[in-house]
Amino acid sequence: MPTKTAVIIVAAGKGMRFGNRTPKQFLRLKDMLILNYSLRRFINHQAIHSVQPVINEKHSKFYWNALRSIGKLGKSEKILSPTFGGDERSLSVKSGLLALAKLKEPPEKVLIHDAARPLVSKEVIDRVLQSLSDFEAVFPVLPLVDAVWKVEKNKYELMKDRNSLFRAQTPQGFNFSTILDAHLKNTDHWALDDISLATKLGVSVKHVNGCETNLKITTSTDLKTAERLIE
Ligand code: CTP
Ligand code: MG
Repeated sequence: MPTKTAVIIVAAGKGMRFGNRTPKQFLRLKDMLILNYSLRRFINHQAIHSVQPVINEKHSKFYWNALRSIGKLGKSEKILSPTFGGDERSLSVKSGLLALAKLKEPPEKVLIHDAARPLVSKEVIDRVLQSLSDFEAVFPVLPLVDAVWKVEKNKYELMKDRNSLFRAQTPQGFNFSTILDAHLKNTDHWALDDISLATKLGVSVKHVNGCETNLKITTSTDLKTAERLIE
């Protein structure tokens, strides 16, 4: 029997930095809503068996309209009922994990992906999945190309170890019971990301190459960049 793999798409954020009345994940990027890019990418991936969306309760209407706008794809059997997120991203992830844990057949592996990263490529997903057969936690990263400075008040410090610093992306992949356990034990809801939680449990972690196009839409400038990327 092939390993069951699910993806949690966290889409419960309010997009404060973007600052639009419609939360950024429900904005249009060229011909489709931002959330729908990730949904399509994972639904169409043969190694992904189910897709667990996590949304804000107040965004239910946006969500159902988004699903309707992609026709047949939005009716895919892989899409599970959405679960409601929390005030912090880590609480939204936890809610997705708990929803998957309640399934008759919980997955063995899980990917966790930001809805705000619509242009994730199949290659990045494949790299994460491939390393997930040997490691309990896997995440895509990019190197830093610019010089990195630590600036605190009027103190400036050049980070000399730039080669050992990376920018993290999603999807981050995990052994399902490992990351569920990490979230159940976590009391710090400001926890930065799931990899940092997993490392606290001392599990085996691997980084793989991310992709420049897998940017996170944070501000309207990022949306313009994403538009140029899909031209
Ligand atoms: N997210 C979530 N639940 C939260 C916060 C964030 O599901 N309480 C999701 C967002 O919807 C997004 C991803 O986590 O897909 C990455 O978060 P971020 O880019 O920070 O989005 P927002 O939190 O919505 O934006 P901001 O921080 O500017 O308010
Ligand atoms: Mg945020």
